Amino acid sequence: MRLSERLSKLPPYLFVEINRKINEKKARGEEVISFAIGDPDMPTPEHIIDSLCQASQIPANHRYPETSGLPELRQAVCEWYDRRFSVALDKDREVVPLIGSKEGIGHIAFCLIDTDDIGLVPDPGYPVYAIGTMLAGGSVYSMPLKEENGFLPDFDAIPDNVLSKSRVLWLNYPNNPTGATAGLDFFQRAVRFAKAHDIVICHDNPYSEIFFDGDPPVSLLQAEGAKEVGVEFHSLSKSYNMTGWRIGMAVGNEKLIQALSTLKSNLDSGIPQAIQQSAITALNSDPEVISKFNQIYRKRRDLIIEVLSDIGLEVTVPKASLYIWAKVPKDYTSIEFTASLLDQCGVAVTPGIGYGQYGEGYVRFSLTIHDASLIKGLSKLSMWKDNKNPFKSKR
Ligand SMILES: Cc1ncc(COP(=O)(O)O)c(C=O)c1O
Repeated sequence: MRLSERLSKLPPYLFVEINRKINEKKARGEEVISFAIGDPDMPTPEHIIDSLCQASQIPANHRYPETSGLPELRQAVCEWYDRRFSVALDKDREVVPLIGSKEGIGHIAFCLIDTDDIGLVPDPGYPVYAIGTMLAGGSVYSMPLKEENGFLPDFDAIPDNVLSKSRVLWLNYPNNPTGATAGLDFFQRAVRFAKAHDIVICHDNPYSEIFFDGDPPVSLLQAEGAKEVGVEFHSLSKSYNMTGWRIGMAVGNEKLIQALSTLKSNLDSGIPQAIQQSAITALNSDPEVISKFNQIYRKRRDLIIEVLSDIGLEVTVPKASLYIWAKVPKDYTSIEFTASLLDQCGVAVTPGIGYGQYGEGYVRFSLTIHDASLIKGLSKLSMWKDNKNPFKSKR
């Protein structure tokens, strides 16, 4: 059987060896505590589930949904954007609901990229930006996110011959995996850059509601002129613990939203309407619902950082997102350090290299681990010893 060349171009799965080790340990009956998964451990709030249950009893919701989603959902998205970011959106032209934001992030590449076009992709970054670009037949130009630049891309470092072929600029703040945030001034710069080079901005913003210190994260669409060049992807997954229900949205530039809707109407048949109803309930929730989750995440962040510092890891304290991006000790690669934590402590983390070459030298800890496991995991983690530099123990 011959599979498409397109599929063979997908990058190798870098976690094979680590996953093999995790499975081996588990098969021996050893406990592995995972800080590796970015999937909220807390359940979807009860009032949201109640509305899903009620909506599922209504026969009209048993039929095919429209790709464009319920008008009431698009209206709820507009009202939420207005309340949260003071951004006005037209519910009939500037909003499309998604089957989780990942779906739209992957699909929009087919609206923007032809063979030989380039997608500008952050590295380290959520892998779907690059994979969508590749599947659509384009090439990826990696924009390094370096610590000395606050994990923001340096637009001036992108060569002219790359810019002339670039069709899309991917951004993601609060950032997975670095936990970095970006202010409005950065998005304003990005909009000017995109306009100057005729490049579309796709901003992926699923973590905007998960913040701990300082001002709430911003939307790309708050930047002046952003709607002329960009769209923003958003998700109910992380804010309302709804990863399993699969619902998100893209908002912004009318031409891009209509292009994505057209593509989607040829590929999928929308989001189950009962889930759309639950999303309306979620978006209309008291903001206190999210604040309570954030208080829990903040406590976990502080506990993890304390232990990481104790074992000698350098960490930038994240102001937002669900992740802690920690530097691995000297003389270790991210895969080696991940293996060392697993072998010595029975703790699983994500090696930075899995997010791109500039993720080397880091590992990612996720805050989505419930409190009992967290405490156990931290006590195991505190036992870690630097076998490569035994005399340089920082403790
Ligand atoms: C940066 C980023 N974007 C998008 C997604 C996808 O979220 P969903 O498809 O659940 O909306 C994730 C999930 O982990 C993510 O980390």
